[in-house]
Amino acid sequence: MKALILVGGFGTRLRPLTLSLPKPLVDFANKPMILHQIEALKEVGVTEVVLAINYRPEVMLNFLKEFETKLGITITCSQETEPLGTAGPLALARDKLIDGSGEPFFVLNSDVISEYPFAELIKFHKAHTGEATIMVTKVDEPSKYGVVVMEEETGRVERFVEKPKVFVGNKINAGIYLLNPSVLDRIELRPTSIEKEVFPEIASSQKLYAMVLPGFWMDIGQPRDYITGLRLYLDSIRKKSPSQLASGPQFVGNVLVHQTAVVGKGCLIGPDVAIGPGCVVESGVRLSRCTVMRGARIKNHACVSSSIIGWHSTVGQWARMENMTILGEDVHLGDELYSNGGVVLPHKEIKSSILKPEIVL
Ligand code: GDD
Ligand code: MG
Repeated sequence: MKALILVGGFGTRLRPLTLSLPKPLVDFANKPMILHQIEALKEVGVTEVVLAINYRPEVMLNFLKEFETKLGITITCSQETEPLGTAGPLALARDKLIDGSGEPFFVLNSDVISEYPFAELIKFHKAHTGEATIMVTKVDEPSKYGVVVMEEETGRVERFVEKPKVFVGNKINAGIYLLNPSVLDRIELRPTSIEKEVFPEIASSQKLYAMVLPGFWMDIGQPRDYITGLRLYLDSIRKKSPSQLASGPQFVGNVLVHQTAVVGKGCLIGPDVAIGPGCVVESGVRLSRCTVMRGARIKNHACVSSSIIGWHSTVGQWARMENMTILGEDVHLGDELYSNGGVVLPHKEIKSSILKPEIVL
């Protein structure tokens, strides 16, 4: 089977991290977001993943080359010369997706995290007579997503409304699809939206089905949702393979510490923390609800909560970071400083406290 991952877009909502790397390569729970997806696709027998890209393809491919061999999966790139939206890229990659077998193929948004129940999706898809299956999940605030109205017993979709202004329902498009090759006949090679143009049309011909996604789901393309997504992801690791999580008196709740990271004496870490490869957490540090990316250093007695620390950044001793502070790559927050929701662009040295949420250029 094949899969296409939509990796376009500039990831503006996840700046400053996306100023250093394309969104799909930003670490989530100690590895690039997209690797979580590629590994899960491989598990269900996908042999080729096509990345639909309109932005810096070389960065992406160089990065993933290593994993191609490690995982034994082919990763290719389909590059747009202008952004083709969420459906146009399927038309562009048509020849890569059709291999004559008539098999359906996966399409994924690159910024969604879940347990990726692909095996269940294949089973559901094969049992109905439609052309396309989308996974859906329930959320409290459906207006920022694509909303699906479906027949409960069969899963047949009656309506698909992207970002509705009035309430139509609370089941939303999870950005995970399995499509028959015939869907490609419905898509023209031009900038076009699968949510606004293609799904409503398939729904009106009664060929669109939806399956409620088992387990957790989150679009992690915005900092607050990224932090929430990490909590949900770690909860699921706790249920499925708790031995991956850190244990001992220094840890509370769910904490992921990369094997190459070092944690000093007298720290209190957790809940919902990920400490990436090569990180150094010195003594007496307090971390909760945060991500510390590859190569970062947290100095003695710093206190970090609800924040993201980008690659190779440092947090000074006795410093305090909270309220969705995000340090881009290679940022240095001085000793004893305070950051309340500061969003700091890459390669900055911060010498005075950031007292209210603001972007530091
Ligand atoms: N190749 C390519 N070209 N990819 C694109 C383009 C483009 O022009 N525009 C967007 N993408 C990719 C993004 O990188 C992302 O992986 C995916 O398409 C969806 O775009 P987002 O910008 O993240 O959309 P959204 O989050 O507002 O809404 C989408 O996701 C929701 C679930 O998270 C929609 O699919 C909604 O219906 C859905 O509920
Ligand atoms: Mg998104």
